[in-house]
Amino acid sequence: MAYASLEARGKLARKSDLTLKPRAGHLKHLLSTRTLDIDAVDDFCQLAEAYEVGVATPLRFGGKTVALLFFQPSTRTRIGFEVATVALGSHSIGIEDMSASRSNARTGESLEDCAAVISRLCDAIVVRHHEDGAAARMASKSQTPVINAGDGWNEHPTQALIDIFALRRGLGTIRGSSIAFGGDPRGRTVRSLVHLLRFEAPREIVFCPPPHYEVPGDILGAISENQIRYRIISDIKHALTDCSAIMMAPYDMSDIGEPAASGYVSPNATPDTHVITPEKIEQTRSKTLLYHPLPRHDEIHPACDDLPNAMYFEQVRLSKFMRMAVLDRMLSAN
Ligand code: CP
Repeated sequence: MAYASLEARGKLARKSDLTLKPRAGHLKHLLSTRTLDIDAVDDFCQLAEAYEVGVATPLRFGGKTVALLFFQPSTRTRIGFEVATVALGSHSIGIEDMSASRSNARTGESLEDCAAVISRLCDAIVVRHHEDGAAARMASKSQTPVINAGDGWNEHPTQALIDIFALRRGLGTIRGSSIAFGGDPRGRTVRSLVHLLRFEAPREIVFCPPPHYEVPGDILGAISENQIRYRIISDIKHALTDCSAIMMAPYDMSDIGEPAASGYVSPNATPDTHVITPEKIEQTRSKTLLYHPLPRHDEIHPACDDLPNAMYFEQVRLSKFMRMAVLDRMLSAN
């Protein structure tokens, strides 16, 4: 399999494309990938690419304010939305430590009230929370768009859009490919990405989970419903041999339901069967592209970073443009 060059992945977004009706423009909130259609996904990817190559005009959002509410720790999503907001010419505000805000279990202000208040002061709300469904609760009372930046075990839709954008970029097309998921299969990034893969017609989805965590039934159900084949393997080497791309995750993501300021520390010992190393890539002569929403623990050896297989930092670079696209459509439509 060859690595897709900029030219090989098809036409770049043209200025004229952007005058088309924004097909994600009907979205009031971005809470889940389940409710997106292929037109919206293509629209986000096309607009992200337009921002990347500089044919979309970013500075149309002066005077807009985006609230960043992170009730759970984050590096990429938090910084990514801040960078995207600045690039669009707007401002972001946030509370540095949400555990010290009024909207927590101690002082008891509900998420609904928090949204009702902040949406009267800001033009969009980006929220990360440790509870499943937290973003939807805020959306139920928000007067402005709510973007789910990860809610407990449930979903992380902007990460999944970034993943699709980066997979399309690396593979040229996902159609007919075999896509593997390494590590803990229970995480929100896996669920959100599986829902988007229904549009991409992969040949199969392969899971390499720890033996003690099953792939959640709703994720397998969504794959089967969309007539995509899946199989479970117990050694990541098989994915390096058989698959076009692997989306890695930490071996154990049990901290995903933890609030800000929690002392929980994720276990940090991935067994050899689930670790990707340069030696394994060499032994299998693998051309498999390696993705990861990050943060990584020990599941991809850092010596892989300079190999042509490694796409995870490129994935981060692309995330800025996808988050610009998401904010653009949310701020424009509402
Ligand atoms: N990928 C991701 O959501 O990373 P952060 O937790 O650092 O935001």
